[in-house]
Amino acid sequence: MAQPPVLLETQALTRSFGGLTAVDNLDFVVRKDEIVSLIGPNGAGKSTVFNLISGIYPPTAGRILFKGVNIAGLKPDRVERQGIARTFQTLRLFANMTVLENVLVGFHSRLKSNVIEDLIRPPWVARAERDAVEEARQLLRMLGQRLYTQQEFRAADLAYADRRLLELARAMASQPDLLMLDEPTAGMNPSEAADFMELIRRVHDRGFTILLIEHNLSVVMGVSQRITVLDYGLKISEGTPDEVRRDERVIEAYLGRKAATA
Ligand SMILES: Nc1ncnc2c1ncn2[C@@H]1O[C@H](COP(=O)(O)OP(=O)(O)OP(=O)(O)O)[C@@H](O)[C@H]1O
Ligand SMILES: [Mg+2]
Repeated sequence: MAQPPVLLETQALTRSFGGLTAVDNLDFVVRKDEIVSLIGPNGAGKSTVFNLISGIYPPTAGRILFKGVNIAGLKPDRVERQGIARTFQTLRLFANMTVLENVLVGFHSRLKSNVIEDLIRPPWVARAERDAVEEARQLLRMLGQRLYTQQEFRAADLAYADRRLLELARAMASQPDLLMLDEPTAGMNPSEAADFMELIRRVHDRGFTILLIEHNLSVVMGVSQRITVLDYGLKISEGTPDEVRRDERVIEAYLGRKAATA
């Protein structure tokens, strides 16, 4: 069977901070419709890879091809307009805005409105806004009844796991071709994390390609088609969950000796 087309590809992607090489000559690929995970010990360089792809930092060297175009060094808003959305390891919601408003922020890269249009507000802008509100509501409903019924709550007043969910909703709102999630279950209890990963599967089933950073290994193994493993910025392994699980280098770097005998 032919493989799906490559959506994202990094080539020799490198980023140094002073004397520290946080990401070192990294090559990896995400194909359309995959769930690919990046794993590795603390400080391995996972979030830096996201920061490079999403334009928060320019790479020191290397290329980032997205749909065949080199996006390395583009500013975050430009990257977003190319079709990449992300969440952050630590939440970045607008705490005093409502749930619905936070999701609408995610639509901004799709709404064509600008400051002048906001002032004179021609009818088509109002219509686009109404459509966006309706779409935002549908998105919240898709992500579960709880968030949907709390759409007028302030983000700050949501339970922690629901705030994580809202971050996901906001990233999905721009209908990205690639959705990048940085430790979305961080800080959740095991049952919340399990529910969340079930949801990630459903999001994937709705046609989202996902690049996931996740600390919880059982979660990663269950949900990913392929896994790339980083250690000190270097790729030390990649493959299917089964391949990665059995790889000596991964066991040494990440899983610990106990996992080898489990
Ligand atoms: N802006 C920065 N300035 C200096 N050093 C940085 C910066 N960002 C990351 N680093 C360093 O780069 C290395 C990789 O960090 P990164 O946050 O990418 O790791 P990570 O794999 O996401 O770790 P964790 O699992 O703890 O989230 C670390 O040593 C970190 O201290
Ligand atoms: Mg990180």
